[in-house]
Amino acid sequence: MSDELDALKHDTADALAAAADLRAWDTVRVGVLGKAGRLTGLLKELGRLAPDERRERGVALNALRDTLTATIETRRAALEEVAMQARLASERIDVTLPPLLPARGLIHPISRTIEEMHAIFGAMGFAVGEGFDIETDWFNFGALNIPAHHPARADHDTFYLPGSRDGRPLVMRTQTSDVQIISMLANPPPLRMIAPGRTYRADHDATHSPMFHQVEGLVIDRGITLAHLKGCLTDFLRSFFGIAALPVRFRSSYFPFTEPSMEVDIGWNRRTGELGGGGDWLEILGSGMVHPKVLANCGVDPREWQGFAFGMGIERVTMLKHGIPDLRPFYESDIRWLRHYGASPLVSAILHEGV
Ligand code: DAH
Repeated sequence: MSDELDALKHDTADALAAAADLRAWDTVRVGVLGKAGRLTGLLKELGRLAPDERRERGVALNALRDTLTATIETRRAALEEVAMQARLASERIDVTLPPLLPARGLIHPISRTIEEMHAIFGAMGFAVGEGFDIETDWFNFGALNIPAHHPARADHDTFYLPGSRDGRPLVMRTQTSDVQIISMLANPPPLRMIAPGRTYRADHDATHSPMFHQVEGLVIDRGITLAHLKGCLTDFLRSFFGIAALPVRFRSSYFPFTEPSMEVDIGWNRRTGELGGGGDWLEILGSGMVHPKVLANCGVDPREWQGFAFGMGIERVTMLKHGIPDLRPFYESDIRWLRHYGASPLVSAILHEGV
């Protein structure tokens, strides 16, 4: 190869090595292979040579062109790789940084308990019903076999409201048992439902609030017995408190709307406050077989249909489950209390399977 071609080869190699980016590389390429490039210039001169010389020079120039084209392309690939690496480095996102999450609210313990009750009773085939905060005294008392001068009315410290509906006084409902009446009037039996909701009584101290929550349960079907009531409530209490062997005791009691009536106790240790054992009993809820008069008041024939009902305070079971000592902060919206006792909205109600 002539010195001239050799020089072009070396100059090109040097210039490519010096080209730090694709723009500089392109200048080198144009300077060699472009219309006014050095190699193009040499190729143009071929025409002026004598035929023998032209053939020999042509072969050499073509070989050089292949070599130079290859070297130029190799350099381009290398520079592209460098550019890509630089871009990757500059656009890197550090995915290991902790995300900046927006502040999230928590579920109030009352809502949490209601959710858990939906889950547990839902798994037993119960539907969820609703009543009204303001009721006539017929739904709250009369239809539930609590007539006008019955002592149970006095026990309830009822808030009476001005005005009336259907010729009957209006009250803030004192118990969710009104939903028994509402459900039976609205749905023909069989029936299986719970109804959590707000209730009101004129009472205020560390364990009583003028507004509190109860959940009512009602099952109406053919051939329902006390055994169904006991099995259902035992399963519920063990699942809700998450204690498989929670002792449950049924104690004879009195409610006007059930016959027989029973209060339900769970085992605990009075000294330590621990639920489950310890030989002491803690009253948790009221229950019984729906009184035939209540069925008849709702147009349900007591000779064909039987049922059981139960009612419990939602705050009470929530306080026991989570060791909350005072009822009042439930409604004070103190953010510290809510943060302490609130539940994460991302964790669904825990069901204690197989309990
Ligand atoms: N309503 C009653 C109360 O407030 C609780 C209750 C007791 C509800 C027995 C019932 C039941 O359904 O059968 O004290």
